Amino acid sequence: MRTELTFAPLSGIRTELLVVLAADAQTAKGPDAKPEPVLLTADEAVKAAAGAVLASGEYKAAADETLLLHGPMGLAARRLLIVGLGKLAKTTVHDVRNATGTAVRFTKPRGIREMVLALPFAEGLPGGASARAAVEGAFVGDFDPDTYRSERKDLGVQSFTLAAPGADRGPHKGEIESGFQEGVIVGESQNFARSLVNEPGNKLTPTILGQRAAQMAAEVGLQWEVHSAEKLHELKMGAFWSVSQGSEEPPALIVLRYEPEGAAAQADAPVLGLVGKGITFDTGGISIKPADKMELMKYDMAGGAAMLGAMRAIALLKPGVRVIAIVCAAENMPDGKAQKPGDLQTAMSGKTIEIINTDAEGRLVLADGLAYARQLGATHLIDAATLTGACVVALGMVNAGSFSNDDPTYAKFDAALAVSGEKFWRLPLGDEYADMIKSDIGDIKNTGGRWGGAITAAEFLHAFAEDTPWIHLDIAGVAWVEDSRPYIAKGPSGIAVRSILEWVRSY
Ligand code: BES
Ligand code: MN
Ligand code: ZN
Repeated sequence: MRTELTFAPLSGIRTELLVVLAADAQTAKGPDAKPEPVLLTADEAVKAAAGAVLASGEYKAAADETLLLHGPMGLAARRLLIVGLGKLAKTTVHDVRNATGTAVRFTKPRGIREMVLALPFAEGLPGGASARAAVEGAFVGDFDPDTYRSERKDLGVQSFTLAAPGADRGPHKGEIESGFQEGVIVGESQNFARSLVNEPGNKLTPTILGQRAAQMAAEVGLQWEVHSAEKLHELKMGAFWSVSQGSEEPPALIVLRYEPEGAAAQADAPVLGLVGKGITFDTGGISIKPADKMELMKYDMAGGAAMLGAMRAIALLKPGVRVIAIVCAAENMPDGKAQKPGDLQTAMSGKTIEIINTDAEGRLVLADGLAYARQLGATHLIDAATLTGACVVALGMVNAGSFSNDDPTYAKFDAALAVSGEKFWRLPLGDEYADMIKSDIGDIKNTGGRWGGAITAAEFLHAFAEDTPWIHLDIAGVAWVEDSRPYIAKGPSGIAVRSILEWVRSY
């Protein structure tokens, strides 16, 4: 998708589709309170063109509500699309992101390949943040998962233009321009992650994931290394290897490094370690999963993909902090060589792990990924993983789970969420939960039973993060969109890319 920023007046723009956002300005409550839809533009010609239909009461400017006018009077555009944001008083840039996605998805099945969206004008919608959110939303909306269809149903939007009429003469020009540019980088990076998550297990093995990561790293100028089984043995990554040992596909240990300019000068500066679960397919192993919905377990590398997407954006946005990303990629398969329940594994850190359930494999690969990040010098850790069904039971498909052993570190993540608009809900850790995963024969066991399953999984990781400030993101419930929404297709969501990026940028 080509993107462009223009400062031209809306009414004169020749386009297939001009999109203007609207909100409901009604503040009164009660049965007589009728919606008062207002267009968030100062352009009088646009307001006039939509005047009659807005006055009719047929359109309420509810969130993602659309209204299309052909041949709008007094405008050079061939069509005018109005997209609602909901209540004006509550509107945020996150509504702008969704509404823009809705606009893009509205056009796709209609064969409209080019569009112009007017940057909304309202209190509570700062120009730079709105511009960024709008462009992100356009990329999010443009993504469709049907890459393997001989005849794709929806072709992408080829050209998306953001219009900020007159802003080149106003005080917000710089912030709108940088917001626009950031939006392109972030939107493309989120879609890069989604494109990886979308790949079937036979099309994206650990080795191929490693190749895709290396290719991306070379394109954006990151240092990279991709290792396989020998390196796992050399590093004594017994936990990671135990998952991969039952597969014909070799594992991949993917390491990407970002160094800001002048980094060598500051010896005690933080080093951020990003660790992602990259299970390219999770059958459950010997503790095999039921057949129903098992096909979705191709998305069990979404945490790893989130780290790769975030690294792509980091390389292009160049924050002033060192970052190391580690993706532990493997296939979890049942086989004559596969590990068995009851087996004992020794992790890189030296801790011994009793395997209770071979389907609790994500925490095993992450245990060694976290240990390796610390060995490479990470002072702060964040991991992302489609780790537990229990997290989906707890929070549904709305919020992802988050955990941390360090409040100041988590506070920075919380602040990042305000920028990203992604929904994470912090869940507790605690010694009582850690007690639930003590092993009778070794140090720790890989499941703690049914209750509090997301938390005992987090405590398992905690045992390998140890006292390094650490955040764990359990994205099992939100990495895959089950039912399409107006602004996003059914399929991979790209969750966590934006939040991890913002957290990194806060250092
Ligand atoms: N990849 C799954 C978790 C998952 C479940 C992701 C649903 C996405 C949607 C993970 O490897 C797993 O199988 N976890 C087990 C752990 C259990 C055996 C302790 C689970 O949650 O059932
Ligand atoms: Mn599993
Ligand atoms: Zn898994």
